[in-house]
Amino acid sequence: MPRHFLSIFDLSRKEFHSLFKRAAELKAKKKSGQSHETLKKKSIGMIFEKLSTRTRVSFEVAVNDLGANVLYMNPSDMQLGRGESIADTAKIISSYLDGVIIRTYEQDRIEEFAKHSTVPVINALTDLGHPTQIVSDLFTIVEQGKKLNKIKLAYVGDGNNIVNSFIGAASILGINLSIATPKGYEPDRNVLKKAAENGNGTIEIINDPKKAASNADVIYTDVWVSMGQEKETKKKQKIFKPFQINEKMVSNANSDVLVMHCLPAHKGEEITQEVLEGPNSVVYEQAENKLHMGKAILEMFLKN
Ligand code: CP
Ligand code: NVA
Repeated sequence: MPRHFLSIFDLSRKEFHSLFKRAAELKAKKKSGQSHETLKKKSIGMIFEKLSTRTRVSFEVAVNDLGANVLYMNPSDMQLGRGESIADTAKIISSYLDGVIIRTYEQDRIEEFAKHSTVPVINALTDLGHPTQIVSDLFTIVEQGKKLNKIKLAYVGDGNNIVNSFIGAASILGINLSIATPKGYEPDRNVLKKAAENGNGTIEIINDPKKAASNADVIYTDVWVSMGQEKETKKKQKIFKPFQINEKMVSNANSDVLVMHCLPAHKGEEITQEVLEGPNSVVYEQAENKLHMGKAILEMFLKN
């Protein structure tokens, strides 16, 4: 049975720390031009049913840098796009490949693929979670000199895939997470239940963004309208207005607060341009680190 990375809950505390260490090593190697072809001769497929800039490009470059071959498969060019079953697609393409990276809608779709795949499957975002992003973002926080079990991480915005993965990570690593969403937009209940079973860290869900940001070491936000929810745009823009990360919101936090966003950002909605490009922002470091962490993840799941 291959080992898949479908959810943040698939990692142990120890594995998080070894990913942070390995990503730092791989980053140093890349910067100094040292070769790191640890997955030579492997073939890795990528199926993205939603758009992507960072995740797709960083994984493609990661696979190349590791000496493996990458095959990007546009689902509308595949029989999958004409109704071939996920099960048959998984059985067949996993007989050609050494690993598959998937971005899709419902979590069930990737779970179904993984069930029939004979090679590891990596979740590159679903409606429920974005685990590779969150491991990478936690690496950025560590790289900035913060201790994960000592910080207050405020997530302000929509209770979406990003915050679901943060909740899982907090429950494994012992992070104090304060989440502020408008009423009715709280994170996934099953994720919260699972996190409570792990029992590390504290996870507070409130509807007051100012309170969440108060004394925070990290303020994280994400778009109000995730991919696939476009019909809700008008309604959400109104409801989420008080949840914007602007200079006033940042002034409630510690002076060395890290401002984070997985990107793409809608400037002027969930975050102002001044804050996104301001002195506390590490959003471009976050984006770069997806390359280095992508490699560490590929090695962990695909190396023999
Ligand atoms: N952060 C992130 O996943 O970006 P993309 O949608 O561009 O991959
Ligand atoms: N929550 C966003 C994240 C994009 C990287 C979405 O799912 O569209």
